Amino acid sequence: MKTKVYVTGVSRGLGKAVAEKFLHEGYSVIGIGRTSDIHHENYTFQACDLSVSSDLKNIQFDAESEEIILINNAGQIGHLQRISDQKEPDFEEVLRVNTLAPMYLSWTCLNQAKGAVKIANISSGAATRAIPGWAAYCASKAALDRFSETLQLEESEKGRDVRIWSVAPGVIDTAMQEKIRAASPANFSSLDTFLDLKKNDELTSPEAASDKLFRLIVHAEINRVVCSLREIE
Ligand SMILES: NC(=O)c1ccc[n+]([C@@H]2O[C@H](COP(=O)([O-])OP(=O)(O)OC[C@H]3O[C@@H](n4cnc5c(N)ncnc54)[C@H](OP(=O)(O)O)[C@@H]3O)[C@@H](O)[C@H]2O)c1
Repeated sequence: MKTKVYVTGVSRGLGKAVAEKFLHEGYSVIGIGRTSDIHHENYTFQACDLSVSSDLKNIQFDAESEEIILINNAGQIGHLQRISDQKEPDFEEVLRVNTLAPMYLSWTCLNQAKGAVKIANISSGAATRAIPGWAAYCASKAALDRFSETLQLEESEKGRDVRIWSVAPGVIDTAMQEKIRAASPANFSSLDTFLDLKKNDELTSPEAASDKLFRLIVHAEINRVVCSLREIE
């Protein structure tokens, strides 16, 4: 296949499921992250701590591919505590992983690619909604949305075959949700909402979310840049 798929944050959760989905569909996948236990003949792994700029600079894209798909999935929720209560503020690490790494990898990819490019940045409903206890996370995803929209306008002005999405995946049953549910009620006023979502079995599985993400990217099911997997049936 002439497409190469790059996915960040493949150790678990949505990133692992989406890497496995593309492998299952016959694509060549390159995982990028700190660890990975995926084994497949069409899979390679590039070790990278996305918060470390020298690691990011080592990531290269296959310029000769007819098409490159980049899925900036890796993310961190941060401390789950009001900013003014944090002993060490979380915003530097959160912004590095959630915002600067996708920006840097998008730049590298668009600079190196000679063929078509599709970039899916994994955003969040928190990009458009202020949630106390998640200030850095909300800011990081809001910035990702605006960056993605601007990048799409820029590449369209240049007439390039580039599609960008900043997609909220819905509430997915992953380690990130476990961390959210383990927050202290004194620090996180929305805790009951997330406990109830789990209790009422309202979380999406990583596999169901990755099926939708695959359809979004491969079949370009949504035209807008900022979107949600909830829009896909
Ligand atoms: N779960 C939800 O309900 C939900 C809702 C909205 C948006 N999202 C977004 O969906 C994406 C995936 O989330 P998830 O729920 O699958 O989270 P997760 O289970 O916590 O997985 C996060 C992934 O990001 C990687 N990562 C974190 N920091 C990294 C770093 N410095 N360098 C390299 N990799 C790093 C982790 O790798 P390590 O094993 O190395 O830590 C892991 O593979 C995130 O962008 C998240 O913000 C999730």
